[in-house]
Amino acid sequence: MRIELGGAFADLLNEKGKGSGGNEMAYVERSLGFRTHDLDDRDLRLVTDIVGGTIRWRRYLDYLICSLFHDESMFRSMEPLLLQILRIGCYEIVKLDMPPYAVVDENVRLAKVALRHGAGNMVNAILRKLVSLKDRNSLPLPNMEGNDRAQARALATIYSHPVWMVRRWIKYLGQERAIRLMVWNNSDPSFSLRANCAKGITRADLVTQLNVLKVPHEVSLHLDDFVRVKTGLQAVIQAGFLKEGLCSVQDESAGLVVSVVDPQPGENIVDCCAAPGGKTLYMASHLKGQGMVYAIDINKGRLRILNETAKRQNVDGVITTIHNDLRAFVDKKLLKSDKVLLDAPCSGLGVLSKRADLRWNKRLEDLEQLKNLQDELLDAASILVKPGGVLVYSTCSIDPEENEERVQAFLLRHPDFSVDPVDKYVPADFVTEHGFYFSDPVENSLDGAFAARLVRGS
Ligand SMILES: C[S@@+](CC[C@H](N)C(=O)[O-])C[C@H]1O[C@@H](n2cnc3c(N)ncnc32)[C@H](O)[C@@H]1O
Repeated sequence: MRIELGGAFADLLNEKGKGSGGNEMAYVERSLGFRTHDLDDRDLRLVTDIVGGTIRWRRYLDYLICSLFHDESMFRSMEPLLLQILRIGCYEIVKLDMPPYAVVDENVRLAKVALRHGAGNMVNAILRKLVSLKDRNSLPLPNMEGNDRAQARALATIYSHPVWMVRRWIKYLGQERAIRLMVWNNSDPSFSLRANCAKGITRADLVTQLNVLKVPHEVSLHLDDFVRVKTGLQAVIQAGFLKEGLCSVQDESAGLVVSVVDPQPGENIVDCCAAPGGKTLYMASHLKGQGMVYAIDINKGRLRILNETAKRQNVDGVITTIHNDLRAFVDKKLLKSDKVLLDAPCSGLGVLSKRADLRWNKRLEDLEQLKNLQDELLDAASILVKPGGVLVYSTCSIDPEENEERVQAFLLRHPDFSVDPVDKYVPADFVTEHGFYFSDPVENSLDGAFAARLVRGS
């Protein structure tokens, strides 16, 4: 409820380990009116899964719940807490395949204690109906017949995404790839860790430490410093690896954007939208103590996080943070650089597998506003590039209108820039026909990301 009504992030439960799990449980206690026992690691994982899953699958779960009521208006007027309890029960039965009678029992008890006796009876009736439909293999399915719009609506329900996203992906990717993308977005996210070479930690050291913790992992095929973990991130956090700056949680798709920048010791690099610093810190670790990354961001709080992490990771000596709106900053013409990275604010449509709530927070209108901002920031960033210098434009979006289209429009406005193909910097799997970097969640099993390397004529 807090995520849906209050905008809290679904990853609060696993981001900082037990501490924040404790905060969330205190919230549960205040709002439901009863105490919960401390959660052990297994329970914490299950709670995280249930929270993430009920958010991801919200549209589909609501469709199921609605179809179990005789009257749609009853569903529409249901009180929010009762609806959440039903969603949890449905998710546990349909997607987690948990023992149905235990699920019914627990959620009936929850409704009785958190609401009232009658609410428990309602949960009992609805969940039992669901169990019986599932047992007979006859769960309702949206009708796929009709025009394009009707089909997109049905797919949006089956795979639980907003209709506008499904329509957009069918337009750009075709139906089959759009479905594969939604399946990826609904799958359990995997994470990568970057060994922090600025603290003298090699990937081999990190692997040794992960073996000690018994965290299953695979080394990255694409980046020397990265290791993939599917489960066990909690153990890594609790062991203090992040706090001590030994490694960072960073997706390889973001690491490859840094490969496109190709930072070298001694260089001065401007990172125009830097906070909370994932790419700044990785670039800084490439400098080996020589050179500087100027990290600009409009958000003071996020810049503070960047500064703190830089200290922990031992790269604060090669980072200068600048709190400003990039567009205002470039007016003063204080800085010119050989390398400029603009990791622009974007829709985040490439990272929906990691951010369970993000799909429901975005609207098509936001995309139009973002495109204008991206154009303005690109124009501003280009002012910082010396003749002969490089501008890298990147996003964590898979949408062509935020990616290739923004670059093409920029090149029309700035004929002194041209595309420098990225095949020299990243593996061939990630190079598009126009010489851009693109990480495709469906093909590369990583977050979606894009980068273009543009060179200014001298
Ligand atoms: C995609 S995030 C950057 C992520 C970061 N590069 C990383 O790797 O961790 C975009 C950032 O742009 C910043 N931003 C948005 N508008 C801005 C502006 N006008 N000037 C400077 N920064 C801005 C936001 O505060 C946000 O931190």
